[in-house]
Amino acid sequence: MQGLTADLIRGMWYVACPGRDLRPGKFITKKLMNEPVLIGRKSDGSVFALRDICPHRGIPLSYGHFDGTTLACSYHGWRFDGAGTCVDIPSLREGQQVDLTKIRCGNFACTESQGVVWIYFPQKAETPSEGGYPAPPLMPDFAGAAAPKFHIMLPFTCSTDHAAFGLMDPTHAAFVHTSWWFKKQASKLRPKEKSFAPSELGWSMVRHRLPPQNIAYRLLGTEVTTEITYRLPGFRIENIRGERHQATGLTALTPNDESNTEVHQFFWISAGWAGGLRPLFEHLMRVFLDQDRLVVIRQREGLLHEPRLMMVNDADTQARWWARIKDSYLAAQKSGTAFANPLEPMTLRWRS
Ligand code: FES
Ligand SMILES: [Fe+2]
Repeated sequence: MQGLTADLIRGMWYVACPGRDLRPGKFITKKLMNEPVLIGRKSDGSVFALRDICPHRGIPLSYGHFDGTTLACSYHGWRFDGAGTCVDIPSLREGQQVDLTKIRCGNFACTESQGVVWIYFPQKAETPSEGGYPAPPLMPDFAGAAAPKFHIMLPFTCSTDHAAFGLMDPTHAAFVHTSWWFKKQASKLRPKEKSFAPSELGWSMVRHRLPPQNIAYRLLGTEVTTEITYRLPGFRIENIRGERHQATGLTALTPNDESNTEVHQFFWISAGWAGGLRPLFEHLMRVFLDQDRLVVIRQREGLLHEPRLMMVNDADTQARWWARIKDSYLAAQKSGTAFANPLEPMTLRWRS
């Protein structure tokens, strides 16, 4: 749990990329969950995800040509549709019968919701029920068609566990996030007390009022409240409600493999003017997240020596919860039983 690698959780939706990264007729490739994945958008606007390996001789399909409907392999020109089924073998002559529908490169369930492209990585031998896999999580206060105003992604050279610990770590900000615009001084730590309660596949910091001096949140109107939810397989969802506007932030961890993780940050804001702030906000988000990225690069130097690590109350209690939830979820999957959230409501106190 605490080392260089982490168990990957299958049977879950993961963030692949923001929808804006996929123009019609284009595709991108990534290693996600240890699999080579090709994610594309057809000319009709729909998104799809294929295993990026040609079943003929194994060359990545991404070297081939995508015409907006089918993808032709670069080696012998076999063509595959968005469902991963072969639709043409150019070398075949009349009378040479091959059942093309039996030739598949493998695909992943892929959907676009709220401007985010999601991919489902099933468990071994898992097949979707008639209605498909359960839908990916919906961001509160925003409709299915609402695209995020801001997005950034940075690759972290750490397992999802350490990326998750960073997400839910309430006490590193004063030491790590020390920009002029986010001033926190380690010498001025203040006592904090927050209530938590179990929620779906994780827990939530119960909705509470933000201090009025918080400028970013004041843009949303007076009486601003926030709720922060953490859940498997690595999401932090912060929902901020003001009298004038609402904002929801999603930080999503997508494993490339057991020891590398993509960290995505999205922001939906109901205020129309927020779009104009995109260059500034995305720059600030990147500076902030890059500070976390630098920490895990340095942390790796120590983890290579496999140290025994520690957790202290209450600052690391959420990291403990992460470990408990993940272990019980994986155990339930293994035994084929229903997952029961092992957490109980609790108030945590720390200094930050
Ligand atoms: S290797 Fe892809 S068509 Fe032959
Ligand atoms: Fe951080």
